[in-house]
Amino acid sequence: MALDKYERVWLTAVGGLIGSFMAALMVAYLIFDIRLPTFEARVDPANLNSTMFADLGVKKRGENKYDVVMLAKMWVFDAGKDGGNPGVPPVIRVPRGSRVTFYVTSLDVTHGVYVEDHSINLEIVPGQIARQSIPFNRPGEFRIICNQYCGAAHQGMYGTIVVE
Ligand code: CUA
Repeated sequence: MALDKYERVWLTAVGGLIGSFMAALMVAYLIFDIRLPTFEARVDPANLNSTMFADLGVKKRGENKYDVVMLAKMWVFDAGKDGGNPGVPPVIRVPRGSRVTFYVTSLDVTHGVYVEDHSINLEIVPGQIARQSIPFNRPGEFRIICNQYCGAAHQGMYGTIVVE
């Protein structure tokens, strides 16, 4: 079957475009370690004391591996005593080169978790546990921001992650 010259050109262009999109996806996945956030499990917001959220804070899970178990509520992130004093924006410390897995749920309304300069953007829905794992390779202080409007003091809902 003979292909018209222009048909061949367009087929090649479309094939090349799809190929480059696939390559970009693979680069994001394999080199930049970008993953979609995962819905981990359901949880009863009225009964958090019998769940992993009874023990909030930073957990060391292995060499350079940490879990951050955090509760979002109007209008503060609660990372337990590892985050500092209750009721004030938490400060979480991890060593440089750590891979941190966030487990976050909400006590009341929908909140968000966004970390400055890092590829994490979670929607925190009451009744669900949001999970995402990200590497922290550069030292510095990065704000954890609630990026879902959650009421009167939404703009004051934040925390800090310090990569040492
Ligand atoms: Cu919590 Cu906005």
